[in-house]
Amino acid sequence: MKKNILRSNIIQILKKHKLSKKHAEICADHLIKAEIVEAKSHGLMRLKMYCDRIKKKLINPTPKIKIKKINSSVSLIDANNSIGFVSADIGISQAIKNAKKNGVGLVAVKNSGHYGLSSFYAERAVKENLVVFCFTNAPPAIAPHGAKKSLFGTNPICFGAPAGKIPFILDTSTSKINRGKIRRAQKLNEKIPYGVALDKFGNITTNATKALKGTQLPMAGFRGSGLAWMVDILSGVLTGSSHGGKTKDPFDDFSGPQNVGHLFITIDSKIFIGKKFISEMKKNIRLVKKLPKAKGFKSIFYPGERKNKLYKKNSNKDIPLSPEILNQMEKLNAIK
Ligand SMILES: NC(=O)c1ccc[n+]([C@@H]2O[C@H](COP(=O)([O-])OP(=O)(O)OC[C@H]3O[C@@H](n4cnc5c(N)ncnc54)[C@H](O)[C@@H]3O)[C@@H](O)[C@H]2O)c1
Repeated sequence: MKKNILRSNIIQILKKHKLSKKHAEICADHLIKAEIVEAKSHGLMRLKMYCDRIKKKLINPTPKIKIKKINSSVSLIDANNSIGFVSADIGISQAIKNAKKNGVGLVAVKNSGHYGLSSFYAERAVKENLVVFCFTNAPPAIAPHGAKKSLFGTNPICFGAPAGKIPFILDTSTSKINRGKIRRAQKLNEKIPYGVALDKFGNITTNATKALKGTQLPMAGFRGSGLAWMVDILSGVLTGSSHGGKTKDPFDDFSGPQNVGHLFITIDSKIFIGKKFISEMKKNIRLVKKLPKAKGFKSIFYPGERKNKLYKKNSNKDIPLSPEILNQMEKLNAIK
């Protein structure tokens, strides 16, 4: 589908679900960007879920979002149970503002929902020459190291730094693969990679349905488990949001709002070494990229490089959508 037609369709659907035009545009742009970078697990396959949660009054389509100034660097945002994209957009904008004024910004968002791909918020800050961290918690998916029940979410860690034309953006789940990929495999009846999840009996499974009923494995064993825990503390405990396995699964748990938390940390990249930061970053990346290549590698990519190339390659192309998604969109659009 042509990008502009898809965009106006999504906006129309979300406006029918009572979002303002501005909020619908923020959501549409995020969902389309996820499709463009081929992160389909965070694209249009989630639109129905957001709409279902609005219909069940678990997402507030007309939130009164409050920004509390703690000091000139630090703000706390109460999302009033908005769709995650909207409060995160306000959160990163505030974190950018705070860092531009004071060198450092720290913004917490509470009472929010699933906000999609962290890298998009990091990109906003990096464009303003800021170094940035974005954290969000997610519903239980990973068993803490030593436990046999899921509790941590796939809790992504995102770090961005300006680096000239293509920024350095590391944006990774703390599970071996992100949960959206497992949901997508389930929908498409595909196997998931070996060794990324266990079934409910604790055996390795490549069956997506069994994996969703069981538990995902953290990346890097106990280290990944520790990092997922760290994100739970930063996004959940510190911000006053759900934590300790209490974040509701947006697809399966309709017993209440998700109460997801986000944390944005922004730092002026010039704060210690001035304008030299970018040239030092370029030097740093060059030193890594020119290393002799391991067997099977033609080049060394840095985090964010591949996604940036995909964006450039796909941004003027039509967006392929499955018949199932088209059918869902048609039904969602029929709502009065
Ligand atoms: N909102 C949520 O609740 C939530 C939860 C989990 C994940 N997510 C999002 O899902 C997205 C995907 O996460 P993921 O774990 O599947 O990411 P991934 O495995 O695709 O990539 C992880 C990181 O590795 C880098 N990378 C990939 N290939 C590389 C290579 N060949 N060389 C060097 N670096 C490389 C990427 O640039 C990225 O920074 C992220 O944007 C994340 O924010 C969101």
